[in-house]
Amino acid sequence: MENIILTGFMGCGKSTVGIRLSYKLKRVVVDTDKRIEKEQGKSVRDIFAEEGERFFRDRETELLKKLLEEGGEQIVAVGGGLPLREENRHLLKELGKVFYLRVTPQEVCRRLEGDDTRPLLRGENPLQRITELMEQREPVYAAAADVTIESGGKEMETILQEILQYMEEDNENTDY
Ligand code: S3P
Repeated sequence: MENIILTGFMGCGKSTVGIRLSYKLKRVVVDTDKRIEKEQGKSVRDIFAEEGERFFRDRETELLKKLLEEGGEQIVAVGGGLPLREENRHLLKELGKVFYLRVTPQEVCRRLEGDDTRPLLRGENPLQRITELMEQREPVYAAAADVTIESGGKEMETILQEILQYMEEDNENTDY
């Protein structure tokens, strides 16, 4: 089975879905934000503040290349901005099956209330900021994905089953 890649906006549930899938499939999960934080020895928030967004984005691209070399059957939950770089979208397609977990701005706002770890969402009116960013990003996420999963308002188990079913069907079609 190919690598499973989870993409989508901040707060869409990529990390949680990744962990739950890793239990079910007994596969390693890589969270790109966490991996970069570990390698840099500081939080995403501090990387943005001290090194700038460009530096962080370069680390994302570098990490995708490393994961491609590592191969293996992994689950990769990627940071919300990672698919925005064209090069990264190509790397994601090479890396595995890309699932886009779609949620509404209202849901993101509710889930991330009080969160201060996402530098891009800081400011006066989070719902407006989320709505604007999501409008820009939605077509990019959709284009980068093999499968879009509506994850808003759904039980976690239903989301997991949708992903697993897709992977099984895909495996049957390619297992000659
Ligand atoms: C970002 C999303 C974050 C993190 C960084 C930038 C983005 O990851 O990579 O704050 O540009 O959407 P999550 O999607 O895991 O929150």
